[in-house]
Amino acid sequence: MEKAELKIDYILCRESYPEGYEELCRAALEITENAYCVYSGFAVGAAVLMNNGEVVRGTNQENAAYPSGLCAERTALFYACSAYPEAGVKAIAVAARDKGVEVDEYVTPCGACRQVMSEIVGRYHADFDVILIGRTSTLLVKASQLLPFSFKLGDTRP
Ligand code: THU
Repeated sequence: MEKAELKIDYILCRESYPEGYEELCRAALEITENAYCVYSGFAVGAAVLMNNGEVVRGTNQENAAYPSGLCAERTALFYACSAYPEAGVKAIAVAARDKGVEVDEYVTPCGACRQVMSEIVGRYHADFDVILIGRTSTLLVKASQLLPFSFKLGDTRP
């Protein structure tokens, strides 16, 4: 038997955006305006920077049948990988407004979005930056760090 522990590296920026990602962060915050969040009032915007320099944005899209809705992260990532399947992802920035007001503390992605990020890391054999934006603090973490023990590409292959 062996006792082990996990360590997660991240960078916390107080009242500033991570260097080099200022524009991506503004894009994520701006696109929250397009969220369809009539049930929760919680508008989320995601901006994906591809390795080819393209930026793809998405928002949460809710549905009267609740589970049919989709988070902003997956909306943006699925579209990004559909539009530029060869490019690969460099970074994703995520911002949120609760009832119209930008959240103070950054919002962290749900488990399903983390699973999708994990798949993208495996698919392109490359890690990418995840930037979680809040009014008072913004966190930068590698996608590979967000879902320890995730079910991975290859787990179902013989
Ligand atoms: N939501 C996202 O789009 N991304 C997150 O990281 C957290 C939650 C959405 C789902 C739902 O439309 C609303 O926010 C409230 O949970």
